[in-house]
Amino acid sequence: MRILGTGGALPSNEVGNGAFSALADTSDEWIVSRTGIRSRRISSGDTALSLARSASERAIASAGIRREDISLVVCASVTGETLTPSLACLLQRDLGLREDNILAFDINAACTGFIYALGLAREFLRPGGYALLVGSEVLSRVTDFTDRSTCVLFGDGAGAVAAEASDGEFHFVSGARGDGESLVIGSIPPAPNPFSAARASPPPPLIRMNGQEVFRFAVESMTKSILCVTERAGLAPGDIHHFVCHQANRRIIESAARRLGAPPERFFMNIERRGNTSAASVPLALDELNASGRLLRGERVVLSGFGGGLTYGAVYMIW
Ligand code: ACO
Repeated sequence: MRILGTGGALPSNEVGNGAFSALADTSDEWIVSRTGIRSRRISSGDTALSLARSASERAIASAGIRREDISLVVCASVTGETLTPSLACLLQRDLGLREDNILAFDINAACTGFIYALGLAREFLRPGGYALLVGSEVLSRVTDFTDRSTCVLFGDGAGAVAAEASDGEFHFVSGARGDGESLVIGSIPPAPNPFSAARASPPPPLIRMNGQEVFRFAVESMTKSILCVTERAGLAPGDIHHFVCHQANRRIIESAARRLGAPPERFFMNIERRGNTSAASVPLALDELNASGRLLRGERVVLSGFGGGLTYGAVYMIW
């Protein structure tokens, strides 16, 4: 599979660390030193769908493909507004994609969602077919702005790629470790059910996270999965031109780079201005790297993600 074009979309509202000192007991100094984040975009009306639509339009335009040739739409998100229709189906409608012979569905693998989507697309795409793969999140819908340990971390945004089937080298690795404690976003409250004895009220749909647990999992799974895909390509981490990793914490990426023995400057970072945008993080970072002109055709690229589930995954591809 080969990525032909990328796109990104962000809410216009940029919120600096200073704004959080008024909401919770925190400081710019703590946030920057522990995470690397200085600001993030927060929706003031954008939805996961509106951001996904803008990012997708840009990805399709940058790929130079015809909308009617897209046969696969996969949208990774945990913050769509409806369980059904899926974001992918709403994108099919809003972008005017074809109705027959198309697969359009969402996946929930939290911050690893876009990496899972790439692996799935490789299985589904046939020669001559095109895929639209999107990560889009409005995490401010599920952020507890009174919880200082999480509210400073997250941002909203979307990233998308348009890809084609290709026999170019592509390696994918993924994993999952079911864990209902380390990172949870509560469920939609159930409707009253006269046939159920259960009366317990569900936890509110807000992010709860044990940061240290997730940190350990992140460094371990990123290192393991990046090593796995580079080895499958017969390479060492030092042979990779660009690493585009989930932007959750600057220290996680720096720690993985040290363990891998790869030059830190090859790890693209935009966390300083984006925060953690979950499933949007990797495609948004990829789009920003691509737009910078530093990503050249023929270069070796590794994408890597980890997140709620717990889940992780990595992809090796030639750009
Ligand atoms: N401001 C000031 N103090 C804070 C803040 C804050 N915003 N948040 C926590 N603290 C305090 C804690 O209360 C604690 O205080 P104490 O020592 O008095 O108890 C102290 O700072 C240290 O807290 P830790 O949790 O140990 O801080 P740590 O260095 O681990 O950093 C962080 C926390 C940034 C969350 C880090 O653990 C992390 O990045 N974890 C990974 C998160 C991640 O990758 N998530 C990805 C998945 S997200 C998804 O899937 C949607």
